[in-house]
Amino acid sequence: EWRPRRGAGRDREPGGYADPAGHPDLRAAVARYVAYARSVRTGADDVVVTNGAQQALDLVARVLLAPGDVVAVEEPGYPPAREAFAAHGARVVGVPVDGEGLVVSRLPRAARLVYVTPSHQFPLGVAMSPRRRLDLLAWAGAHDAAVVEDDYDSEYRFADRPLEPLHALDAGGRVVYVGTFSKTLLPGLRLGFAVVPPSLRSAVRAARRLADGHGPVATEAALARFMDEGLLARHIRRTAKVYARRRSALLAGLAGELAPYVETVPSAAGLHVCALLRSGDRAVADAVAARARAAGVAVETLAAYRAEPGGPAGLVLGYGAIEADEVPVGLTALAAAFRAVRPG
Ligand SMILES: Cc1ncc(COP(=O)(O)O)c(C=O)c1O
Repeated sequence: EWRPRRGAGRDREPGGYADPAGHPDLRAAVARYVAYARSVRTGADDVVVTNGAQQALDLVARVLLAPGDVVAVEEPGYPPAREAFAAHGARVVGVPVDGEGLVVSRLPRAARLVYVTPSHQFPLGVAMSPRRRLDLLAWAGAHDAAVVEDDYDSEYRFADRPLEPLHALDAGGRVVYVGTFSKTLLPGLRLGFAVVPPSLRSAVRAARRLADGHGPVATEAALARFMDEGLLARHIRRTAKVYARRRSALLAGLAGELAPYVETVPSAAGLHVCALLRSGDRAVADAVAARARAAGVAVETLAAYRAEPGGPAGLVLGYGAIEADEVPVGLTALAAAFRAVRPG
Protein backbone atom coordinates (compact mmCIF):
# COMPACT_ATOMS: atom_id res chain seq x y z
CA GLU A 1 0.00 0.00 0.00
CA TRP A 2 2.84 2.33 0.86
CA ARG A 3 4.12 3.60 -2.45
CA PRO A 4 5.83 6.96 -2.88
CA ARG A 5 4.29 8.44 -5.98
CA ARG A 6 6.70 10.79 -7.62
CA GLY A 7 5.05 14.10 -8.28
CA ALA A 8 1.83 12.88 -6.72
CA GLY A 9 1.93 15.65 -4.13
CA ARG A 10 0.43 19.00 -4.69
CA ASP A 11 3.76 20.77 -4.94
CA ARG A 12 4.21 22.65 -8.15
CA GLU A 13 7.95 22.04 -8.35
CA PRO A 14 8.64 18.67 -6.80
CA GLY A 15 12.21 18.71 -8.08
CA GLY A 16 13.30 22.06 -6.65
CA TYR A 17 14.68 23.07 -3.29
CA ALA A 18 11.99 23.02 -0.65
CA ASP A 19 11.08 24.23 2.83
CA PRO A 20 13.58 23.05 5.50
CA ALA A 21 10.63 22.43 7.84
CA GLY A 22 9.16 19.89 5.45
CA HIS A 23 6.49 19.64 2.79
CA PRO A 24 3.56 21.88 3.79
CA ASP A 25 1.05 19.10 3.14
CA LEU A 26 2.94 16.75 5.43
CA ARG A 27 3.29 19.36 8.16
CA ALA A 28 -0.46 19.95 7.99
CA ALA A 29 -1.16 16.21 7.99
CA VAL A 30 1.12 15.68 11.00
CA ALA A 31 -0.55 18.56 12.88
CA ARG A 32 -3.99 16.99 12.29
CA TYR A 33 -2.69 13.53 13.15
CA VAL A 34 -1.12 14.44 16.50
CA ALA A 35 -4.18 16.49 17.43
CA TYR A 36 -6.48 13.57 16.70
CA ALA A 37 -4.29 10.74 17.97
CA ARG A 38 -2.52 12.39 20.89
CA SER A 39 -4.39 15.59 21.83
CA VAL A 40 -1.31 17.57 20.83
CA ARG A 41 -2.89 20.86 19.83
CA THR A 42 -0.70 22.45 17.22
CA GLY A 43 -0.64 23.92 13.74
CA ALA A 44 1.38 23.10 10.65
CA ASP A 45 3.71 26.04 11.39
CA ASP A 46 4.92 24.36 14.59
CA VAL A 47 5.71 21.08 12.88
CA VAL A 48 9.20 20.40 11.55
CA VAL A 49 9.51 17.21 9.53
CA THR A 50 12.79 15.46 10.29
CA ASN A 51 14.95 12.57 9.15
CA GLY A 52 13.50 10.30 11.85
CA ALA A 53 13.17 11.15 15.52
CA GLN A 54 16.95 11.06 15.65
CA GLN A 55 17.32 14.22 13.61
CA ALA A 56 14.71 15.93 15.77
CA LEU A 57 16.91 15.23 18.80
CA ASP A 58 19.96 16.45 16.94
CA LEU A 59 18.25 19.70 15.88
CA VAL A 60 17.03 20.36 19.41
CA ALA A 61 20.57 19.81 20.68
CA ARG A 62 22.00 22.20 18.08
CA VAL A 63 19.50 24.89 18.97
CA LEU A 64 19.37 24.60 22.75
CA LEU A 65 22.71 23.30 23.96
CA ALA A 66 26.12 24.82 24.47
CA PRO A 67 29.13 22.62 25.28
CA GLY A 68 29.11 21.67 28.96
CA ASP A 69 25.35 22.11 29.39
CA VAL A 70 23.71 19.44 31.51
CA VAL A 71 21.12 17.22 29.84
CA ALA A 72 19.08 14.79 31.95
CA VAL A 73 18.07 11.49 30.39
CA GLU A 74 16.31 8.42 31.70
CA GLU A 75 18.52 5.64 33.09
CA PRO A 76 18.05 3.07 31.65
CA GLY A 77 17.22 4.92 28.47
CA TYR A 78 17.55 5.28 24.73
CA PRO A 79 21.27 5.29 23.86
CA PRO A 80 20.94 7.20 20.54
CA ALA A 81 19.35 10.12 22.43
CA ARG A 82 22.12 10.14 24.98
CA GLU A 83 24.69 10.02 22.19
CA ALA A 84 23.05 12.81 20.22
CA PHE A 85 23.22 15.18 23.19
CA ALA A 86 26.75 14.12 24.11
CA ALA A 87 27.86 14.70 20.51
CA HIS A 88 26.99 18.36 20.97
CA GLY A 89 29.21 18.59 24.02
CA ALA A 90 26.48 18.20 26.62
CA ARG A 91 27.16 16.60 29.99
CA VAL A 92 24.57 13.86 29.95
CA VAL A 93 23.32 12.77 33.37
CA GLY A 94 21.21 9.65 33.89
CA VAL A 95 18.17 9.97 36.16
CA PRO A 96 16.53 6.85 37.62
CA VAL A 97 13.14 5.60 36.47
CA ASP A 98 10.63 3.92 38.81
CA GLY A 99 7.10 2.61 38.34
CA GLU A 100 5.86 6.17 37.72
CA GLY A 101 8.53 7.06 35.16
CA LEU A 102 11.44 9.46 35.53
CA VAL A 103 12.08 10.30 39.19
CA VAL A 104 11.72 14.07 38.99
CA SER A 105 13.14 14.64 42.48
CA ARG A 106 16.45 13.20 41.24
CA LEU A 107 16.89 15.65 38.36
CA PRO A 108 20.18 17.54 38.48
CA ARG A 109 19.47 21.18 39.30
CA ALA A 110 21.63 22.40 36.44
CA ALA A 111 19.80 20.48 33.69
CA ARG A 112 18.99 22.68 30.69
CA LEU A 113 17.16 19.91 28.89
CA VAL A 114 15.30 16.82 30.06
CA TYR A 115 14.72 13.98 27.58
CA VAL A 116 11.86 11.60 28.45
CA THR A 117 9.69 8.86 26.92
CA PRO A 118 6.51 9.31 29.01
CA SER A 119 4.06 7.15 27.03
CA HIS A 120 6.15 4.01 27.15
CA GLN A 121 9.48 4.44 28.84
CA PHE A 122 12.29 3.10 26.71
CA PRO A 123 13.24 0.40 27.56
CA LEU A 124 11.33 -0.40 30.79
CA GLY A 125 7.90 0.22 29.29
CA VAL A 126 6.27 2.04 32.22
CA ALA A 127 4.06 5.07 31.60
CA MET A 128 4.89 8.29 33.39
CA SER A 129 2.13 8.89 35.95
CA PRO A 130 -0.05 12.00 35.65
CA ARG A 131 1.44 13.34 38.88
CA ARG A 132 4.98 12.94 37.60
CA ARG A 133 4.08 14.66 34.36
CA LEU A 134 2.91 17.70 36.26
CA ASP A 135 5.93 17.53 38.57
CA LEU A 136 8.27 17.43 35.59
CA LEU A 137 6.64 20.44 33.95
CA ALA A 138 6.71 22.35 37.23
CA TRP A 139 10.37 21.43 37.66
CA ALA A 140 11.18 22.60 34.13
CA GLY A 141 9.40 25.89 34.78
CA ALA A 142 11.21 26.45 38.07
CA HIS A 143 14.62 25.59 36.56
CA ASP A 144 14.09 27.22 33.16
CA ALA A 145 14.70 23.92 31.38
CA ALA A 146 13.30 22.51 28.15
CA VAL A 147 11.72 19.07 27.89
CA VAL A 148 11.92 16.71 24.93
CA GLU A 149 8.97 14.30 24.89
CA ASP A 150 9.85 11.36 22.64
CA ASP A 151 6.51 9.73 21.80
CA TYR A 152 8.09 7.12 19.57
CA ASP A 153 5.60 4.25 19.79
CA SER A 154 2.42 5.39 21.52
CA GLU A 155 0.32 4.62 18.43
CA TYR A 156 0.28 1.05 19.64
CA ARG A 157 -1.73 0.89 22.85
CA PHE A 158 -3.15 -2.33 24.17
CA ALA A 159 -4.64 -1.41 27.52
CA ASP A 160 -5.78 1.63 29.46
CA ARG A 161 -6.59 4.99 28.04
CA PRO A 162 -3.64 7.06 26.83
CA LEU A 163 -2.42 9.66 29.28
CA GLU A 164 -2.21 13.25 28.21
CA PRO A 165 1.16 13.99 26.66
CA LEU A 166 3.42 16.51 28.37
CA HIS A 167 2.91 18.75 25.36
CA ALA A 168 -0.82 18.99 26.09
CA LEU A 169 -0.18 19.79 29.76
CA ASP A 170 2.53 22.34 29.10
CA ALA A 171 1.43 25.92 29.60
CA GLY A 172 4.94 27.32 29.42
CA GLY A 173 6.01 26.42 25.88
CA ARG A 174 8.83 24.24 27.22
CA VAL A 175 8.04 20.93 25.56
CA VAL A 176 9.32 19.76 22.20
CA TYR A 177 7.14 16.83 21.15
CA VAL A 178 8.92 14.30 18.94
CA GLY A 179 7.31 11.57 16.84
CA THR A 180 8.43 9.12 14.20
CA PHE A 181 7.08 6.98 11.37
CA SER A 182 9.74 4.34 12.10
CA LYS A 183 7.34 2.24 14.17
CA THR A 184 4.08 2.81 12.31
CA LEU A 185 5.61 2.49 8.84
CA LEU A 186 9.30 1.73 8.29
CA PRO A 187 12.50 2.76 10.06
CA GLY A 188 14.18 2.96 6.67
CA LEU A 189 11.75 5.66 5.60
CA ARG A 190 13.64 8.04 7.89
CA LEU A 191 10.71 10.33 8.55
CA GLY A 192 9.86 11.79 11.91
CA PHE A 193 8.84 15.17 13.21
CA ALA A 194 9.12 17.65 16.03
CA VAL A 195 6.34 19.90 17.28
CA VAL A 196 8.28 22.89 18.51
CA PRO A 197 7.17 25.84 20.64
CA PRO A 198 6.88 29.10 18.67
CA SER A 199 9.99 30.45 20.41
CA LEU A 200 12.14 27.75 18.77
CA ARG A 201 10.46 27.58 15.39
CA SER A 202 12.82 29.68 13.33
CA ALA A 203 15.96 28.37 15.05
CA VAL A 204 15.00 24.74 14.43
CA ARG A 205 14.09 25.48 10.84
CA ALA A 206 17.46 27.23 10.34
CA ALA A 207 19.27 24.29 11.97
CA ARG A 208 17.58 21.90 9.58
CA ARG A 209 18.54 24.06 6.61
CA LEU A 210 22.17 24.09 7.75
CA ALA A 211 22.21 20.37 8.53
CA ASP A 212 20.95 18.99 5.24
CA GLY A 213 18.75 21.53 3.47
CA HIS A 214 15.53 19.63 3.75
CA GLY A 215 14.04 16.16 3.50
CA PRO A 216 12.90 14.06 0.51
CA VAL A 217 10.11 16.18 -0.96
CA ALA A 218 8.46 13.48 -3.09
CA THR A 219 8.40 11.01 -0.20
CA GLU A 220 7.04 13.66 2.14
CA ALA A 221 4.30 14.51 -0.37
CA ALA A 222 3.43 10.84 -0.74
CA LEU A 223 3.23 10.37 3.02
CA ALA A 224 1.02 13.45 3.34
CA ARG A 225 -1.35 11.94 0.82
CA PHE A 226 -1.21 8.56 2.55
CA MET A 227 -2.25 10.28 5.78
CA ASP A 228 -4.86 12.53 4.18
CA GLU A 229 -6.54 9.55 2.56
CA GLY A 230 -6.84 7.85 5.95
CA LEU A 231 -4.45 5.09 4.94
CA LEU A 232 -2.03 5.62 7.83
CA ALA A 233 -4.87 5.39 10.35
CA ARG A 234 -6.11 2.23 8.63
CA HIS A 235 -2.62 0.77 8.57
CA ILE A 236 -2.19 1.46 12.30
CA ARG A 237 -5.57 -0.15 13.08
CA ARG A 238 -4.63 -3.25 11.12
CA THR A 239 -1.09 -3.59 12.43
CA ALA A 240 -2.26 -2.96 16.00
CA LYS A 241 -4.30 -6.17 15.77
CA VAL A 242 -1.26 -8.08 14.55
CA TYR A 243 0.95 -6.66 17.29
CA ALA A 244 -1.74 -7.34 19.92
CA ARG A 245 -1.66 -11.04 19.01
CA ARG A 246 2.13 -11.14 19.22
CA ARG A 247 2.06 -9.29 22.49
CA SER A 248 -0.53 -11.61 24.03
CA ALA A 249 1.54 -14.63 23.02
CA LEU A 250 4.63 -13.02 24.53
CA LEU A 251 2.95 -12.02 27.80
CA ALA A 252 1.34 -15.47 28.12
CA GLY A 253 4.70 -17.17 27.71
CA LEU A 254 6.45 -14.82 30.10
CA ALA A 255 3.74 -15.51 32.70
CA GLY A 256 3.85 -19.24 31.93
CA GLU A 257 6.96 -21.07 30.86
CA LEU A 258 9.26 -18.18 31.82
CA ALA A 259 7.54 -17.33 35.12
CA PRO A 260 10.12 -19.15 37.26
CA TYR A 261 12.81 -16.85 35.90
CA VAL A 262 11.29 -13.47 35.14
CA GLU A 263 8.59 -10.99 36.06
CA THR A 264 7.22 -8.76 33.29
CA VAL A 265 7.30 -4.99 33.84
CA PRO A 266 3.68 -3.83 33.38
CA SER A 267 3.23 -1.74 30.26
CA ALA A 268 0.31 -0.82 28.05
CA ALA A 269 1.87 0.31 24.81
CA GLY A 270 4.63 -0.09 22.29
CA LEU A 271 6.36 -2.93 20.51
CA HIS A 272 8.55 -4.35 23.25
CA VAL A 273 8.30 -5.51 26.85
CA CYS A 274 10.87 -5.69 29.57
CA ALA A 275 11.13 -8.65 31.93
CA LEU A 276 13.14 -8.49 35.15
CA LEU A 277 15.05 -11.53 36.39
CA ARG A 278 13.72 -12.79 39.68
CA SER A 279 17.26 -13.67 40.69
CA GLY A 280 18.43 -10.11 40.04
CA ASP A 281 21.61 -11.60 38.64
CA ARG A 282 22.94 -9.46 35.76
CA ALA A 283 25.56 -12.04 34.82
CA VAL A 284 22.74 -14.54 34.28
CA ALA A 285 20.89 -12.01 32.10
CA ASP A 286 24.04 -11.56 29.98
CA ALA A 287 24.59 -15.29 29.63
CA VAL A 288 20.93 -16.04 28.85
CA ALA A 289 20.75 -13.27 26.23
CA ALA A 290 23.93 -14.54 24.58
CA ARG A 291 22.60 -18.11 24.51
CA ALA A 292 19.22 -17.03 23.23
CA ARG A 293 20.81 -14.96 20.48
CA ALA A 294 22.99 -17.91 19.48
CA ALA A 295 19.74 -19.90 19.18
CA GLY A 296 18.29 -17.21 16.89
CA VAL A 297 16.15 -15.38 19.47
CA ALA A 298 16.74 -11.64 19.41
CA VAL A 299 16.73 -10.41 23.00
CA GLU A 300 18.68 -7.61 24.57
CA THR A 301 19.73 -7.18 28.17
CA LEU A 302 18.47 -4.22 30.16
CA ALA A 303 22.12 -3.42 30.84
CA ALA A 304 22.57 -2.60 27.14
CA TYR A 305 20.41 0.49 27.70
CA ARG A 306 22.25 1.75 30.75
CA ALA A 307 25.06 4.28 30.71
CA GLU A 308 26.20 3.22 34.19
CA PRO A 309 26.62 -0.31 35.47
CA GLY A 310 24.15 -1.59 38.05
CA GLY A 311 20.39 -1.62 38.28
CA PRO A 312 18.05 -4.58 38.04
CA ALA A 313 18.83 -7.55 35.79
CA GLY A 314 16.45 -7.73 32.87
CA LEU A 315 15.73 -8.69 29.30
CA VAL A 316 14.08 -6.57 26.62
CA LEU A 317 11.94 -8.46 24.14
CA GLY A 318 10.65 -6.85 20.96
CA TYR A 319 7.66 -8.13 19.02
CA GLY A 320 7.82 -5.77 16.07
CA ALA A 321 9.47 -8.34 13.84
CA ILE A 322 8.27 -11.78 14.91
CA GLU A 323 5.13 -13.66 13.85
CA ALA A 324 2.70 -14.51 16.68
CA ASP A 325 3.07 -18.24 16.09
CA GLU A 326 6.85 -17.98 16.36
CA VAL A 327 6.68 -16.34 19.78
CA PRO A 328 6.20 -19.58 21.78
CA VAL A 329 9.11 -21.16 19.91
CA GLY A 330 11.34 -18.23 20.84
CA LEU A 331 10.21 -18.32 24.46
CA THR A 332 10.86 -22.04 24.72
CA ALA A 333 14.40 -21.36 23.49
CA LEU A 334 14.70 -18.59 26.06
CA ALA A 335 13.52 -20.92 28.85
CA ALA A 336 16.08 -23.48 27.67
CA ALA A 337 18.75 -20.78 27.87
CA PHE A 338 17.73 -20.06 31.49
CA ARG A 339 17.90 -23.75 32.34
CA ALA A 340 21.30 -24.09 30.69
CA VAL A 341 22.73 -21.09 32.51
CA ARG A 342 21.16 -22.01 35.85
CA PRO A 343 20.58 -25.75 35.67
CA GLY A 344 17.74 -27.10 37.81
C1 LIG B 1 12.99 5.81 22.25
C2 LIG B 1 13.00 5.82 20.76
N1 LIG B 1 12.91 6.96 20.11
C3 LIG B 1 12.90 7.01 18.77
C4 LIG B 1 12.99 5.87 18.01
C5 LIG B 1 12.93 5.96 16.51
O1 LIG B 1 13.94 6.72 16.01
P1 LIG B 1 13.98 7.11 14.48
O2 LIG B 1 12.72 7.85 14.18
O3 LIG B 1 15.20 7.95 14.38
O4 LIG B 1 14.07 5.85 13.68
C6 LIG B 1 13.11 4.65 18.64
C7 LIG B 1 13.27 3.43 17.83
O5 LIG B 1 13.57 2.37 18.32
C8 LIG B 1 13.11 4.62 20.05
O6 LIG B 1 13.21 3.45 20.70
